[in-house]
Amino acid sequence: MFIDRFEQIDGVHAGFRRNYAKGIGVAGFFESNGNGLRLCQTTIFEPGRVPVLGRFSLDGGRLNQADLPTTRRGLGLQFSPPNGEEWRTAMINFPLFPVRTPEIFFERLLAFKPDPATSAPDAARVKAFETRHPETIEVLKKIAAEPRSSGFGNTTFHGLNTFLFTNAAGKTTPVRWLLKPEQPFEPAGGARAEKNYLFDELIAQVQQQPIRWRLIVIVGTASDPTSDPTQAWPDDREQVDVGTLTLDRVEAEEMSAATDTIFDPLILPPGMSPSDDAILGIRSSVYSESFTRRIQEKKQPSAVTPADVKQNLPNKSTHPVP
Ligand code: HEM
Repeated sequence: MFIDRFEQIDGVHAGFRRNYAKGIGVAGFFESNGNGLRLCQTTIFEPGRVPVLGRFSLDGGRLNQADLPTTRRGLGLQFSPPNGEEWRTAMINFPLFPVRTPEIFFERLLAFKPDPATSAPDAARVKAFETRHPETIEVLKKIAAEPRSSGFGNTTFHGLNTFLFTNAAGKTTPVRWLLKPEQPFEPAGGARAEKNYLFDELIAQVQQQPIRWRLIVIVGTASDPTSDPTQAWPDDREQVDVGTLTLDRVEAEEMSAATDTIFDPLILPPGMSPSDDAILGIRSSVYSESFTRRIQEKKQPSAVTPADVKQNLPNKSTHPVP
């Protein structure tokens, strides 16, 4: 059982997500330019604005881990057009996913579990895993070669799993998507003394001015792998810029509607459907089990508290998240 294994690795932090536990709520809107309609018949891609709720997070179940430049960064989004359609997605800052199947993800969690005595994973167990899964090593090498950005605001986020888009004419296309920041790239520095520096900087940034990403849809062909997120698609695949995500509000977990939301990748509007990637179905059921457990527990304070949000505001109070 996945959730038991997450708890075995990182412990139970009552009231919080079993993975990506440390996070903060955000909100804003998506402004569609209409280009997406060619691929997908959803009201979200009709020209105009759609409200968005989101959550930035760091990988792992340890609620009070210190921010590190190398920790995997997450962004969950929920697009809610007024007609009741909904699109939820959870993306990370890796260009590929390090495991091919849910079973290998499960195996990897235990293989990399830190030994309490040394805080490092058991070298023999890691080696045995790597021998069985050379594709994971390949992906991790590619990820290590990518320059990390300095903060959440200038991070590129990738949807990774393949989905299917169907347009008004009934044509179905395999796609992947990513968010490209409009904030300029700056390389990450080394580890920092301030425990929440990534979140603190995000709060200050959003309060100074809204931050923006372009939503890019990568158009696959019949020969592109759809079931395996460790495999890249060729670089020359068409990329369609479908609109701009603007985030202009930030809220601690105690205040944000994102806290009690599940960014389930299978909550899709008409026009979008899952591919044959088995990871998608597992994500949906595991996120739901994580939610069932956390929603029944008495919450401890979040890692980035309402006081931290207030302290990092230049001169404004927080806005309520709708
Ligand atoms: C077998 C594969 C996976 C498993 C078992 C898994 C497990 C989990 C769990 C248990 C949560 C907490 C859910 C909640 O309580 O709401 C979570 C959150 C998250 N996952 Fe996954 N995950 C998997 C694959 C992925 C992939 C491929 C991505 C990126 C494309 C991803 C990105 C995220 C993000 C960004 C969050 C935080 C979302 C939020 O703020 O609620 N995960 N994952």
